[in-house]
Amino acid sequence: METIVEEIKRLKAERKAVILAHNYVNPEIQDIADFLGDSLELSFRAKKSGAEVIVFCGVRFMAETAKLLSPNSTVLIPVPDAGCAMADMVNAKMIEAYKKDHPDAFFVAYVNTTAETKSKVDLCCTSGNVEKVLKSIPADQEVMFLPDRNLGGNMNQKMGRSMDLWKGYCPVHDAVTPEMIRRARAEHPEALVLVHPECKPEVVAECDYALSTAGILKKVKELDAKEFIIGTEKGIFHRIQKENPDKKFYSLNPELVCPDMKKITLETVRDALKNMMPAIELPADMMESAVKPILRMMEL
Ligand code: 13P
Ligand code: SF4
Repeated sequence: METIVEEIKRLKAERKAVILAHNYVNPEIQDIADFLGDSLELSFRAKKSGAEVIVFCGVRFMAETAKLLSPNSTVLIPVPDAGCAMADMVNAKMIEAYKKDHPDAFFVAYVNTTAETKSKVDLCCTSGNVEKVLKSIPADQEVMFLPDRNLGGNMNQKMGRSMDLWKGYCPVHDAVTPEMIRRARAEHPEALVLVHPECKPEVVAECDYALSTAGILKKVKELDAKEFIIGTEKGIFHRIQKENPDKKFYSLNPELVCPDMKKITLETVRDALKNMMPAIELPADMMESAVKPILRMMEL
């Protein structure tokens, strides 16, 4: 009798599929992925994949980005309603309304946005390249950064910019407080604190490093320190501990869980491969506009 993991591997070979997964998905999904990464790495991987079928284990905006970059592949999303609360805080209509009052604004969209939103903006960024992307925009250009007020606010502070910020936020990272950092440091005085830049500026001010998930994974390997307090979604602990068996990792708060990332299970991945659905479908005109700010980002 085939196990579910064997079944997924068989179906994957039959369908000529690759499985891409984000660092926050459940451990058993991370273990069957062909590639695991942050939003930026996953975008590059989707673009060069060339696979007939991509099974995207993550939230919907990530699968949409894969479809935009690999339009000839069938992009399966095992749970179609795995969304991102922050991405849903802005839409095309809201952007059009803002544009009426700010005709000269240049729109930078965090990659955590729907394809519809991307079709209305000038340039994308991820938490892994946000500084580089913003450096490419003249300092005197009026900029609207959306949807994450925290990532944008952190960049305004770090880079001395005064971008206008959308009022969006990630409910998981926005719940982190400076008090959590102080408490964790008191419990583990030797540990360094790494958080995601979707945390509030007052939190980032108290950490040692604010980095994307791939940035956190890279940094803990490079540093000589042996103990780390990690302020991001729980899913990262599986990989971080596996890659650094001699180091100790403490969670800033074990309740940092993205419920949408956790919707992806082995059963939903198996069923997606078996039924070849649900697949990402986007209107052609939206795809044409939405891919532009992503390609512009990738060319930088
Ligand atoms: P990364 O690009 O850093 O992996 O972040 C994605 C995300 O959704 C963070 O909440
Ligand atoms: Fe969206 Fe936050 Fe979940 Fe990331 S962790 S997918 S930003 S809700």
